[in-house]
Amino acid sequence: MDKIRIKGGKPLKGEVRASGAKNAALPVLAATLLGRGEYRISNLPDLRDVVTIKRLLTHLGAEIQSDGPQWSIRTPDLKRCEAPYELVKTMRASVLVLGPLAARFGEAKVSLPGGCAIGARPINLHLMGLEKMGAEVKIEHGYVSVNARRLRGARIYLDSASVTGTENLMMAASLADGVTVIENAAREPEVTDLAEFLIRCGARISGYGTNVITIEGVDSLDGSTNFGIMPDRIEAGTYLTAAAITNGDIFVRDANPRHLDAVLLKLREIGIAIREEPGGIRAIGSGKIGAADITTFPYPGFPTDMQAQFMALLSLCSGLSVITETIFENRLTHVAELRRMGADITVQGNTAIIKGVQRLSGAPVMASDLRASASLVLAGLAAEGETEISRVYHLDRGYEHLEQKLSNLGGDVTRVKQTP
Ligand code: EPZ
Repeated sequence: MDKIRIKGGKPLKGEVRASGAKNAALPVLAATLLGRGEYRISNLPDLRDVVTIKRLLTHLGAEIQSDGPQWSIRTPDLKRCEAPYELVKTMRASVLVLGPLAARFGEAKVSLPGGCAIGARPINLHLMGLEKMGAEVKIEHGYVSVNARRLRGARIYLDSASVTGTENLMMAASLADGVTVIENAAREPEVTDLAEFLIRCGARISGYGTNVITIEGVDSLDGSTNFGIMPDRIEAGTYLTAAAITNGDIFVRDANPRHLDAVLLKLREIGIAIREEPGGIRAIGSGKIGAADITTFPYPGFPTDMQAQFMALLSLCSGLSVITETIFENRLTHVAELRRMGADITVQGNTAIIKGVQRLSGAPVMASDLRASASLVLAGLAAEGETEISRVYHLDRGYEHLEQKLSNLGGDVTRVKQTP
């Protein structure tokens, strides 16, 4: 398993481009199961999760030609309607094929995603919504099977504003008989990106971006469309945080400030200069990191996917900061590793109390999940001496060409290939 080695203490400077968003690419690619025709999808990020969904779509029978970030996809018919354990266990988002398969082919069999490092992450809301639309749902031998001659419109209230839950049900409802209303729907920009893609294919959707989405089902969708994936707001937020923690100056091209309001607000609050410039966002360190209190919330609140990165940043704050994680029950595992680098953080339940320290020191640390690994990279960039991060496969799932991008900004970051 590869490792990443970082020699810290250098301010990062320059320009970096935000890649296509992982959490928009996955549902859009799953949605290509909904209609015939040739989809041309661009700005796809070069990530392990995108490779995994490509394997899954091909396994189901899709014909994919990929030329770097541009793919052409055809799903004239399918060989099978089953997403196997082997693929789903490596990426929970594989569950996003459930809605499209059930809606277009009337049947789907998907391995139930197990728990993950950050929480139990059940899919009960996805299944409840499909049952409301008339599907027969069965769980057996670790698989969920969904059958329905044709889904029908329904009113669905989500107990929690699940992102992939909203996406799965929105895709299913696009081909249902009648009108579906999703209440307490997720408002994340990735949900909006998916809705815009579905509308390009002929779907009738309104209210996306709000917590009430209405979908009027149609008989078929047409895939003959071009679509560019939105920029990755979490990757962009991570690079802006890199400028703040290294006292650097970074311009993130293609980053959309409106997708990052809560993050920019907190960066400004702690004294980082933020400039919304044509074509992107610039962050300039001020040599001092103020304290702040952060609570994660569904969009447009502070994103849970930026929580770990801010934990690293605020470990160098001047004063006391408090971070409360409300979305996932086990998303503070990076704290122990940051402590190994000299951070002074106390955890009580889902709250971390951070007493800012003068400096961090490099150390061998271990990544536990995607965003936790990003926080260790940020801490390593700010720390004195060398940091070695193991289990970096987590990073490859969500950060495109990370070492290259950081090196181009002046970071001393290398990947150490481990021979099996
Ligand atoms: C999406 O996961 C993202 N993944 C996650 O990003 C992100 O952290 C999360 O939304 C929250 O913003 C993708 O888009 C592929 P949820 P998702 O369903 O949809 C509970 C990253 O780092 N819940 O919105 O799986 C659940 O347990 C990843 O890129 C139910 O109880 O998250 C959690 O506590 C990590 N039942 C809460 O809702 C359900 O059926 C929010 O989860 C569904 C969810």
